[in-house]
Amino acid sequence: MPAAERVLLRSVTMWLLLQSLLLLLASCLRSAAAFPKGCYPSEEEGLKTFRCSNAQLTEVPRDIPNDTNKLYLDSNRIPFLPRDAFRDLPLLLELDLSHNAIAGVESGAFQGLTDHLHSLDLSSNRLVSLSKDTFSNLKAKVNLSDNPWMCDCRLQELIRTVDLAAGSSGGIVCESSAQEEHVGKAFLQVIADTDFCNVYKKTTDIAMLVTMFGWFAMVISYLVYYVRQNQEDARRHLEYLKSLPSKQRRSEESSTISTVV
Ligand SMILES: *[C@@H]1O[C@H](CO)[C@@H](O)[C@H](O)[C@H]1NC(C)=O
Ligand SMILES: *[C@@H]1O[C@H](CO)[C@@H](O)[C@H](O)[C@H]1NC(C)=O
Repeated sequence: MPAAERVLLRSVTMWLLLQSLLLLLASCLRSAAAFPKGCYPSEEEGLKTFRCSNAQLTEVPRDIPNDTNKLYLDSNRIPFLPRDAFRDLPLLLELDLSHNAIAGVESGAFQGLTDHLHSLDLSSNRLVSLSKDTFSNLKAKVNLSDNPWMCDCRLQELIRTVDLAAGSSGGIVCESSAQEEHVGKAFLQVIADTDFCNVYKKTTDIAMLVTMFGWFAMVISYLVYYVRQNQEDARRHLEYLKSLPSKQRRSEESSTISTVV
């Protein structure tokens, strides 16, 4: 009898094990179908978190749950953020895009996140230059460290519009610049005594424009004067020519009259 009992026990255990295995497999399959590959949701400190770190992604996944509060897309191979890349995420607070290959961000990429996002990590990417309206209206603290920035007026204008994450400004280093001596230096240090969009250049540009306009006006007025003068001369000459034969004629007429008389 104990042998039969043991067999029964073993088969029940086997059955339970098999069932739980099947359940596990089913749930795995379901989550694989519902979420992008390599992504999984979790709950951290009461915030809905969606992690796609190290998932070999080459673009921002489309079907991210719309109640996500924290989104981790770091350590992937995303090269570009298109317009509306994060629309339909009305509760997103944190977005981590660090350690990707992002070289381009289309304007409007962060559209739809402007009011609620409070942290955006774009560090360790391949950003060289961004349009100054990339982060317009965004209230988030942004980390732009560790990118191959080109230090110029465009970057200066961008930095003016962005709220940098605390302590991250030193990580914005010039990989290239119009002036060789800036390479390898922190951008905020460089702009402390260099104005890339300086007023002096603008005034010289305006002076150049005014001078060119002056020259142009002179050329035009000379041309007008020249044409008028020529017309005047031609008219006078014509009148002169007209007057010649008529005078002759008149004198001839008078002479004939006189002979007749
Ligand atoms: C998410 O999408 C569902 C279905 O479209 C909608 O009912 C729900 O209100 C959305 N949630 C949020 C937070 O927008
Ligand atoms: C910004 O990014 C750099 C590089 O990834 C990291 O070392 C630093 O801790 C980040 N700073 C903040 C404030 O997130």
